[in-house]
Amino acid sequence: MNFKGRNFLTLKDFTAEEILYLTDLAAELKRKKKEGIPVDVLRGKNIALIFEKTSTRTRCSFEVAAHDLGMGTTYLDPKASQIGKKESIADTARVLGSMFEGIEYRGFGQEIVEELAKYAGVPIWNGLTNEYHPTQMLADLLTIREVFGDYKGRKLCYMGDARYNTGNSLMILCSKMGIHFSVGAPEKYFPNAELVEQCKKWAAESGGSVSLETDPKAAAKDADVIYTDVWVSMGEPDEIWEERIKDLTPYRVTMDLLKCAKDTAIFLHCLPAFHDLGTEIGKTIHDKFGLDEMEVTDEVFKSSQSEVFREAENRMHTIKAVMAATLGAF
Ligand code: CP
Ligand code: NVA
Repeated sequence: MNFKGRNFLTLKDFTAEEILYLTDLAAELKRKKKEGIPVDVLRGKNIALIFEKTSTRTRCSFEVAAHDLGMGTTYLDPKASQIGKKESIADTARVLGSMFEGIEYRGFGQEIVEELAKYAGVPIWNGLTNEYHPTQMLADLLTIREVFGDYKGRKLCYMGDARYNTGNSLMILCSKMGIHFSVGAPEKYFPNAELVEQCKKWAAESGGSVSLETDPKAAAKDADVIYTDVWVSMGEPDEIWEERIKDLTPYRVTMDLLKCAKDTAIFLHCLPAFHDLGTEIGKTIHDKFGLDEMEVTDEVFKSSQSEVFREAENRMHTIKAVMAATLGAF
């Protein structure tokens, strides 16, 4: 298995064996971290972290993981760099590629991260684009495996806007890894037909399946994992809240819905989540539309079935594995 020098842009580019290798490596790095065993095998190297959208987990994961591996980090926030505004992506890629051993990018279109990869000459890691969120997927797989001890043949149900980064990426992950994937959403929020067709082919080979349901209870039936994400993603306009609330409220993850899944089912969410009035946006939506909670109820979020904080921690261990493997340390 050779990852050295490779980009990590979408799981479409990786085989099931490679995804499993990275997950195993993350589990090993997690064990070492817990036991206090140093892994600073990339001492002297430096990475750049470009964030054109905000982040808590992804940024902290890249920074902590890089420091644990012995690397230096430079953070470029949405306003602090010239990228895309005064300097083209290609020129930026050439400049950063000459100073850093690897570059993380979080931002808008997938074509931007692909352009960086074309010109940088060093590994590019996708920290979220509109279309994909591949590092999140490794954390989700690690979490599922930690909880159940396996993942193949399990069923993961995704509720909500399945056309965006998290929904698309979960469908790819599940179809490659032999996990049954179901979506619960109105038809207009189903992933694009071309990606669905491709994923169905992968699922046929891996023993998984892909099903798209407009009935939330049918989608959740006998699931091992119920997963959701925010109704409005970063970069989308505020005006769409009203429509999303109307369309997606029937797909909110409630205790009733969770009961359609297996008794042993877990709840996952990439986070951040709107489950109470503890956020500014949550309060604004409450004042405007009267909602106390959005994509998931506070009850589910805080229930014993919720594994969201384990999942969030696993972001760091899995991102560490991606960097270590693509920089040739393991
Ligand atoms: N899940 C995730 O990517 O979180 P952040 O937006 O906080 O990085
Ligand atoms: N779909 C969400 C994911 C956040 C991690 C967004 O793009 O805002």
